[in-house]
Amino acid sequence: MALVTKAIKGTKDVLPKDVHKNQYIEATCLDTAEKFGYKEIRTPVFEHTELFQRGVGDTTDVVQKEMYTFDDKGGRSITLRPEGTAGAVRSYLENGLCNEALPQKVCYLTSCYRYEKPQAGRLREFHQFGVECFGTQSPLADAELIALAKAVFDNLEVKDLSLEINSIGCPTCRAEYHKALKEYFSSRQDELCETCRGRLERNPMRILDCKSPVCSAIAADAPVVTDYLCDECKEHFDAVQKYLKAQNIEYTINPKIVRGLDYYTKTVFEFVSTGIGAQGTVCGGGRYDGLVDELGGQKTPSLGFAMGLERLMMLLEAQNAPFPQAAVPDLFIIALGEKATLKAVEIAGDMRAEGFEALIDLNQRSLRAQMKYADKLGAKFTVVIGDNEVEQGVARLKNMANGEETEIALTTFVSGFYNISLSEQLADLEINGEEFDFGSLFGIKNEEE
Ligand code: HAM
Repeated sequence: MALVTKAIKGTKDVLPKDVHKNQYIEATCLDTAEKFGYKEIRTPVFEHTELFQRGVGDTTDVVQKEMYTFDDKGGRSITLRPEGTAGAVRSYLENGLCNEALPQKVCYLTSCYRYEKPQAGRLREFHQFGVECFGTQSPLADAELIALAKAVFDNLEVKDLSLEINSIGCPTCRAEYHKALKEYFSSRQDELCETCRGRLERNPMRILDCKSPVCSAIAADAPVVTDYLCDECKEHFDAVQKYLKAQNIEYTINPKIVRGLDYYTKTVFEFVSTGIGAQGTVCGGGRYDGLVDELGGQKTPSLGFAMGLERLMMLLEAQNAPFPQAAVPDLFIIALGEKATLKAVEIAGDMRAEGFEALIDLNQRSLRAQMKYADKLGAKFTVVIGDNEVEQGVARLKNMANGEETEIALTTFVSGFYNISLSEQLADLEINGEEFDFGSLFGIKNEEE
C-alpha cells in the first residue's frame, strides 16, 4: 500500500514507545522552573507577522529567511512562531500581567517553526522549553536565570555541557561597536553574501551570526563587543559573574556570542555540548531590556532563555542518561466467555478508579492470543477468568515476572475491595525482586481500619 504522503521534511513523530522520555524531560523542566517561581504560560502557535518582525528583528536570519508566513483567508499575514519570547511578551502586555507584582516569571513548552536546512539537531518543527522573567534589571536575575537552566540540566543528569557567557551591551555602547563593525566589514563588502551586504548599513552585528561560510570566516576577525562596553554594562557583567561564582557555576566568557535574535542587550549566554554534532547549542538566552517597550509596553528590563528539547533528548541519549521506565499495565484480565467478560469489565473499572492501569482484550480473542498480547504489553500481572471462575468466585493471578500464581477470591470483590485474607496472601509478592504493593493494586482495605 502506497502512503498518500509522508511527514514534512524536518519534522519528527514521537512514538508511544518513546513518549515517556519526552514527558520526563518536560516534567523535569516545569518542576525545576516552579522551584524558581515560574508559572506556565500557553500562547497560540501563530501570531500576526509583525510581532516577530518587530520583536525578533527584521534583519535576523529567522525573520529574513526562516519564517513560515502566510496570508489567512481574511488576508492577514500570519506567522507560525519561530520562537517563544515574542508571543510571551505580547501576552504579558495584552493580558495585563505587566500591572501585577514584578518581576513576573513565566515558562513554556512550545513547538517552534523555522525553515532551516534540516540536519541532526536542526529541524523545521522543533520544541523548546523556555522561561521569561519580566521587570528586573538586577544582575542577580541574570545569574538566577542561568542557575535555573543549569538546575534543569543537573536534574536530568546531563554531563559535559559548557556554559559560555558574554555581554553585548546596551544601545549606548552598541552605537560605538556598530561603527567599528561597519568600518571592518566595509573593507570586505564585496565578499559578503547579499543578505549581509544589506545588513551592513542597518545592523552590522547580524553579519556575525550569518551561516554562510564566507561571511563567518570574515566575521572571525571582526572587533569584539566586549571591547566597547560602557561602564554601566561592564559593571552589570561583572556583577553577573560575581553571582555566578557565588553559586559555583562554572563558565567561560566567549566574546563571539551575539545570538541570532535582535532583542538582546547586556548578558547573553549559551550552554554548548560537543557530543551531538554541529548543532551543539542546547540552550540560549539572555537579557532583553528593550523588547517590552518595542512591542508597545512600558520600559521593562527582562530576560529569558530557551532550550531545544530535541537537542536535549539527543544529548541524554548519547550520554545514556537515566530515563524512567515506560509505564506498563498493572493487570491484564483475560476473560473467556460473556459472563467472564462482564466480570472483567467490572474489575477493570474498579482497578482504574483505584489508580491502576488495568486492561482487557477488546477483541475477545482466545486464551493463547490474549496471553501473548498481555505479554507483549509487558503486563505485571494477569488473571484468567472463565465461566468456572465466575461461578466459583476464585481465579488465579499470575505474576508475569516470575510465573508465580496466587489464588484470589472474586466473590469478595464487592464495592471495589477484596477482603483482608487476600491482602495477607498477597503481601509478600515480589516483582523483579522488589516488593510490590499488591494490597494497593487491588484496593484491598483492612476491614479493621
Ligand atoms: P534560540 O537560540 O533561537 O533562542 O533557540 C533556543 C534553542 O532552541 C537553541 O539553543 C536550540 O537548542 C533550539 N533550536 C533553535 N533552532 C532549532 C532548530 N531549527 N531545530 C532544533 N532546535 C532548535 C530563542 O529561541 C530565544 N527565544 C531564547 C530566549 C528566550 N531568549 C530570551 N528568552
